[in-house]
Amino acid sequence: MAKVVVCGASGRMGQIIGRMVHESKDLELVGGINLKPASFFGAEIVAAKDADAFLKKTKADVLIDFTVASAVVDNVKLAARNNCALVVGTTGISAEQRTEMEKAISGHVPAVISTNFSIGMNIFQQLVRQSAKLLKEYDIEVIEAHHRNKKDAPSGTAKTLLQIIEEEAGARDKMYGREGMTERKNEIGVHVIRGGDIVGDHTVMFSKNFETIELSHRAYDRSVFASGAVMAARWVVGKKPGIYGMNDVLALKK
Ligand SMILES: NC(=O)c1ccc[n+]([C@@H]2O[C@H](COP(=O)([O-])OP(=O)(O)OC[C@H]3O[C@@H](n4cnc5c(N)ncnc54)[C@H](O)[C@@H]3O)[C@@H](O)[C@H]2O)c1
Repeated sequence: MAKVVVCGASGRMGQIIGRMVHESKDLELVGGINLKPASFFGAEIVAAKDADAFLKKTKADVLIDFTVASAVVDNVKLAARNNCALVVGTTGISAEQRTEMEKAISGHVPAVISTNFSIGMNIFQQLVRQSAKLLKEYDIEVIEAHHRNKKDAPSGTAKTLLQIIEEEAGARDKMYGREGMTERKNEIGVHVIRGGDIVGDHTVMFSKNFETIELSHRAYDRSVFASGAVMAARWVVGKKPGIYGMNDVLALKK
């Protein structure tokens, strides 16, 4: 039975993932890591400063990280030096942080990194890819909405959608919101909404004179991300070192 440690265990996502691992028959919740010690679902949560000793003691097989961008590089290094596979859901990661993570992972441990672990969102991304390929001439806008406590903007998922669109329809300038005299050119407009407890909405609009195609995905509950992350944790243990995506876990073609 694979031993799982959840990093960010006291957070919104960490709590749901902890419960799912605890309730699963084929995974063992050996503990969590957060800024302060606590407990969850009968397991210990240790402070981040004690995480190295904790991974050595528990001999965890996989670390699931849902924390903050400023912490994720150290958490990835921690797992890699303890030979522990990784599932990383934290977003807002800069290009430099991503490079550091890749360096720590490659040749050492297997890691699934995804800005969105929802199965529906991964199917949605395929629909967006297909649409962007067919609708290169259309005006494209990306709109996302999340809860008031989300720290990063635009969301990691919106950035992934932009990357997919540009891979298929070509690189474009981005316009983050519009104000004043803004003549539309060939940019992609990106619009961010923050409020209340919105779990995660993403819309991609393709518009031309007289018609619009709108693709939308709406997450109603964080458990859609948590169950995908737990699925990735099951999948990643025993894989060859390297970076994988949810596409690999779900065996979806790019
Ligand atoms: N990939 C996905 O599918 C997906 C889905 C939802 C959220 N997210 C992302 O996951 C991250 C967490 O989201 P959340 O809503 O649970 O946030 P949250 O703020 O509720 O939880 C984050 C937790 O991490 C803890 N933390 C901070 N630094 C730490 C460190 N050094 N070591 C251990 N723990 C530390 C915080 O104290 C907090 O408890 C965000 O980046 C969010 O955007 C990703």
